[in-house]
Amino acid sequence: MKISLKSTLWYLARPGIYAEYLKKVLLAVKKRVMKPVGSGQWCRSKAMSMDDLMLKLVGGVGACPVENLSESTNGLLLYNLAEHLQATRIIETGVARGESTRCFLTSLKNRNGKLISTDIPRPDLWVDTGCLVPDDLAEYWQLIEQPDRKALPKALELMPKIDMCYYDSDKSYGGRMFAYPLLWNALRRGGIFVSDDIDDNFAFRDFCKNLGLQPFIAKTAARFVGVIRK
Ligand SMILES: C[S@@+](CC[C@H](N)C(=O)[O-])C[C@H]1O[C@@H](n2cnc3c(N)ncnc32)[C@H](O)[C@@H]1O
Repeated sequence: MKISLKSTLWYLARPGIYAEYLKKVLLAVKKRVMKPVGSGQWCRSKAMSMDDLMLKLVGGVGACPVENLSESTNGLLLYNLAEHLQATRIIETGVARGESTRCFLTSLKNRNGKLISTDIPRPDLWVDTGCLVPDDLAEYWQLIEQPDRKALPKALELMPKIDMCYYDSDKSYGGRMFAYPLLWNALRRGGIFVSDDIDDNFAFRDFCKNLGLQPFIAKTAARFVGVIRK
């Protein structure tokens, strides 16, 4: 239910039905709050621990040579998946300071592989996109600084087949439903699709349902990550 400015003014002019207006507002708030709770519940009902996910996918809990990773990053998982796949072609959406980027590049360097990352340009913010990527890894990396809807088709033109992808940018339902099929179609058979924060909405669930895919879901420090093997 949408509470518009017009309807708010309409109710404000009618003190006799303020209670009705209050009910409408409460319902709208409830709807907004309930949606994420629902997708969180779905994730919780399917989630395993990160250790179990790693055991299932790479046969051990693994290690990552990149030091000082923050708790919120999936760097350990991403590095080990890239190593397990012996990946040489990876696309990720969403870089920020570049923790996931650095983990991917550390693995790709072992095979002279390549990572293409996308992120929106943001010259006025305190964070430099990819500032954690050291100089010696830069040669394996290409950053396209545009929103996904422009950058992803470009990335896929440059790298039409991929071994792995990591979706960690636009967290809206529409953003995910735009990018997921593009990435999935480019993924080679046996490749691995990873999406972070899948409890934001039902996009990951719907994508898997629509294609009849069986995802793995793991609880991370605060959220849920979804993984699909093609
Ligand atoms: C959670 S951060 C990425 C973190 C990174 N993957 C890591 O693990 O270190 C999300 C990033 O997505 C970017 N982003 C958000 N919406 C986007 C869009 N529509 N297109 C491209 N990038 C977007 C933000 O600028 C931000 O840097």
